[in-house]
Amino acid sequence: MKSLLQQLGPVTAIIGAQWGDEGKGKVTDLLAEHFDVIARACGGANAGHTIVVNGKKHVFHLLPAGSLHAGKAVVLGSGMVIHLPTLLEEIATLKETGIDIIGRLFISPAAHIVFEFHKQIDTVMEERRSKGIGTTRRGIGPAYMDKAARTGIRMERLTEDLRAELTARSKELKKMYDITVDIDAELKSLKDAREILRPAVVKSLPILMHDFLERKQRILIEGAQAILLDIDHGTYPYVTSSSTSAAGALQGLGLPPSMLHSCIGVAKAYCTRVGAGEFPTEEIGAHGDRLRKRGGEYGATTGRPRRCGWLDLEDIRFSTVVNGFTHINLTKLDVLDEEAEIRFGVGREADGSVKLERIPGWKTSTAGLTSFEKLPKQAQTYIERIEEFVKIPVALIGTGPGREDIIVR
Ligand code: GDP
Ligand code: IMO
Ligand code: MG
Repeated sequence: MKSLLQQLGPVTAIIGAQWGDEGKGKVTDLLAEHFDVIARACGGANAGHTIVVNGKKHVFHLLPAGSLHAGKAVVLGSGMVIHLPTLLEEIATLKETGIDIIGRLFISPAAHIVFEFHKQIDTVMEERRSKGIGTTRRGIGPAYMDKAARTGIRMERLTEDLRAELTARSKELKKMYDITVDIDAELKSLKDAREILRPAVVKSLPILMHDFLERKQRILIEGAQAILLDIDHGTYPYVTSSSTSAAGALQGLGLPPSMLHSCIGVAKAYCTRVGAGEFPTEEIGAHGDRLRKRGGEYGATTGRPRRCGWLDLEDIRFSTVVNGFTHINLTKLDVLDEEAEIRFGVGREADGSVKLERIPGWKTSTAGLTSFEKLPKQAQTYIERIEEFVKIPVALIGTGPGREDIIVR
């Protein structure tokens, strides 16, 4: 760990290299101890980041997974869309475990509020599409639509009386989507949030981040979603509505791009996707079912079964190009322990189909291993093949869901 920490600069980002759920939360929680500020930059409660500490599972949707570490500053960035009841629930759940986040929580005034009507619109839009995207129905797309249309309501307006504005809005929405907005319920959520969150909303996020850096505070950015779900660089239109890249994370926090010193790309040792869209290495038969079962591949946000398939190195290379990864965290290696043969994508055939390479599996348990040397030879070969293809070090290897189940090289 010491050697890795020496390589990581004062601003480090953790970014998903596939279609999300790679295990970003776990590595954030692991590294958070060594940083002063833990920040989410973009996205909303479509994210579900699970960590397991002392056998206890914690799921985060809006707060970064690093929030468990007492005393660290926690930031919610300007690129985020925040569903207030979800945030209050997360804060309350943490409090139940003895962790008080108020006082060290900093929320950007420019983050947008996700209202219940955004969730209602999300559902209507999904149902109107001839082929659904398979969104999380958390109102993400509609909240970013409002942001882009400059009709959104931001955290800076938390203390305002919004009844007249919401009443006017509800009339428009009835016409456009045939939905009925429960204005009293929306106002009640705002009121509940105001009482708890008002002190957390800062004046200017870029200035706050600048002050952290001036005071030599180390900043860890926990990415949400992943590059193949990025609005610009992902598998459009089957993407989310935010910028999920390292650049997007900096933008979302108001940090200058030159500040990013290191970027850890998180990739599963295989691959999963929730929702619709291309997935060239997908296995829809017995292989996929086995991976889903062993990997517990059900969405942390929606409980949906995740589609499963093999690692696609072409995608990891693309992700490295876009994000400038300095390190890879390969997660869930242990899920492959019972595979007789491991397959992985190494490029595309002329017709666009994926070129698969195959190596024999190791058929022994790697669960909980913490040293590379203890890994079976075939597993070492797999990791070395990944490094050779992607040309950056696989510095962390996940061998189980627990905080300690990891190899740090
Ligand atoms: P995130 O959205 O990228 O933070 O990932 P999720 O939390 O949605 O999904 C990752 C799941 O895999 C969680 O249930 C984690 O507890 C689990 N997990 C993370 N790393 C490992 C690992 O190395 N091995 C195993 N078996 N599970 C892991
Ligand atoms: P974390 O941070 C996996 C997917 C949805 C859908 C598409 C659009 O846990 O990795 P949206 O609700 O954002 O409009 O849905 O994006 N999606 C995710 N898939 N992990 C996530 O977050 C996701 N966030 C969104 O399943 O296909
Ligand atoms: Mg997730």
